[in-house]
Amino acid sequence: MDAETPSLLAARYGTAPDTALPLPANPVIEALLAHRSVRAFLPDALPAGTLEILAAAAQSASTSSNVQAWSLVAVTEPGLKARLAELSGRQAFIARAPLFLAFVADTSRLRRLGARHGNPMEGLDYLEAFIVASVDAALASQNAVVAAEALGLGTVYVGALRNKPEEVAAELNLPPGAVALFGLCVGRPDPAAPASVKPRLPQAAVLHRERYDSAAEEAAVAQYDETLKAFSLSQGIGPAGWVGRMLSRMADAAALHGRDGMKPALRRLGFPLR
Ligand SMILES: Cc1cc2nc3c(=O)[nH]c(=O)nc-3n(C[C@H](O)[C@H](O)[C@H](O)COP(=O)(O)O)c2cc1C
Repeated sequence: MDAETPSLLAARYGTAPDTALPLPANPVIEALLAHRSVRAFLPDALPAGTLEILAAAAQSASTSSNVQAWSLVAVTEPGLKARLAELSGRQAFIARAPLFLAFVADTSRLRRLGARHGNPMEGLDYLEAFIVASVDAALASQNAVVAAEALGLGTVYVGALRNKPEEVAAELNLPPGAVALFGLCVGRPDPAAPASVKPRLPQAAVLHRERYDSAAEEAAVAQYDETLKAFSLSQGIGPAGWVGRMLSRMADAAALHGRDGMKPALRRLGFPLR
C-alpha cells in the first residue's frame, strides 16, 4: 500500500485516514476509489477516436450468455442534446457536455435476428429479458466510465432520461424493444469547478460475511448521515444528510418524477415483461 491509497479510502468513506483496510497500491483500484461525478465540463470537443475507445471499453464488459442486449446512441448535436436535457428534468449540464451517451437496453437486435430466421424469440417476452438487457447495459456503461476517467475525462450518469422514456425513444429513433435506460455525459472536467469524492456508506452497512446481517446497520447509517451532512456542507449545498434524502426520494410515486409509469411505458416500447 502506498501513501495515496489510505487517503483515497478516507475520502471514499469520509473517515479519518487511519483506515486499516488491506488494499494494495494499484493504479486501477486507485482510479476506482477516486471516482467522482462531474457536472461542469469544458466545451472542447473530445479528441478524435475517444467515442470509439469508450465504446470498445464498454463492449469489453461481460455480457449475459454473450447476448450483448444493449446499444449505445452517441449524441453530439447541440439541438438534440438540449431536447434530451429538457426531457431529463432540465439538467443543463447535459447540453453543455460535448458528448452524451444514451445506454439502451436493446432486445430489438435479437428480435430482428429471430425474424430473419423465422423464430418467434418468445424468450424475449419475459421480464428476465429486460433484466438481462439492463444488467448488460449497466456493466457496459461502467466500463465506459472507468475508461473515460482513465483518459482524464469526467462523466455523470443521467437516470432522469427515464422520466419521459417514450419521448426519449422518439428523439433517438429507437425501434420497438429498445429503451434508453440512462445517459452518460462525457467531457473534460472544468478545473474551475472541481468535483469531490462523495463518501459512501460504511462497509458495516453493505458488506455481509457468509449471511446477511443488518445488526450493525442502524449505527452505520446514523454515522453515514453525519458524514454526508459534513460533506454536503463542505460542498456548499447545505446540511443535506442521507437519511432525509432517502426518505423523500422513496416516499411516494410523485417522488419518482414520472418513472412510476415505467412498467406500462416499457410495454408500449416493446418489452412485454411477462
Ligand atoms: C444510474 C444513475 C443515474 C444517475 N442519474 C443522475 C441524474 O439524473 N442527475 C445527476 O446529477 N446525477 C445522476 N447520477 C449521479 C449520482 O447522483 C452520483 O453517482 C451519486 O450521487 C454518487 O456520487 P459520485 O458519482 O460523485 O460518487 C446518477 C447515477 C447513476 C448510477
